[in-house]
Amino acid sequence: MLLEGRRALVTGASRGIGRAIALRLGEEGARVAVNYYSDRERPDAEAVAAGIDPSGTRAYAVQADVGVEADVVRMVAECGDRLGGLDILVNNAGTQKQAPTLEMPLDLWEEILRTNLTGTFLCLREAGRLMAAQKRGVIVNISSVHEFIPWPGFAHYCASKAGIKLLTQTVAREWAPLGIRVLAIAPGAIATFANSPSLEDAEVRRRVEADIPLGRRGRPEEIAAAVAWAASDQAAYLTGTTVVVDGGMSTYAKFS
Ligand code: BGC
Repeated sequence: MLLEGRRALVTGASRGIGRAIALRLGEEGARVAVNYYSDRERPDAEAVAAGIDPSGTRAYAVQADVGVEADVVRMVAECGDRLGGLDILVNNAGTQKQAPTLEMPLDLWEEILRTNLTGTFLCLREAGRLMAAQKRGVIVNISSVHEFIPWPGFAHYCASKAGIKLLTQTVAREWAPLGIRVLAIAPGAIATFANSPSLEDAEVRRRVEADIPLGRRGRPEEIAAAVAWAASDQAAYLTGTTVVVDGGMSTYAKFS
């Protein structure tokens, strides 16, 4: 097992990629706090925690809106108490909604930036304070191929993910002397609820898959495997960088 005895917090872990990451960290021996956003996600988050450990000793579900400072402060303090510290933070919570920039209302821009970028910052800062006291920790930020690939209709989302890229690199430098690694994993097109409208449309699906050299969408478990490795001591020399897990999408398959 890669993560025996490690204490981990995964945000946005009630479904999709976050769920797969929480389950995989649990399989690798970690104790896991499974974050969820609101009462609507609570049953799913509790099922993830029970999937890791039905007795509730090694996993529990914890509500917090990552974009709300007081929620994050409470959640991370609770992790410190219930898990006895924190070794791994996976900043996975994120949201997306298509909008042409000419018509983008300010509150939609702010909604996306608040969850994706400010949420990543708040969790990172709070977890970093615990980790600095321990002189050890790993922070894995889930960004996207859209930290570097422009995506029309998603300027807010791309800006948030590009922000995560330099947040990751800058904090990696600040915190390397404290024994804390900070890195990003950038998924490509992964088959999850966030992609479900396109999954149902065969034409969109065909177009997306034509952009991927491996010819298919990724599975959440394939992102989780990268996170488990990156969070483990096997990746002890990895910090301040992004690991892209995208089936080759970022080689621009259509360009010839
Ligand atoms: C988005 C997906 C999209 C993928 C590749 C991800 O960041 O969440 O909806 O399919 O990037 O474009």
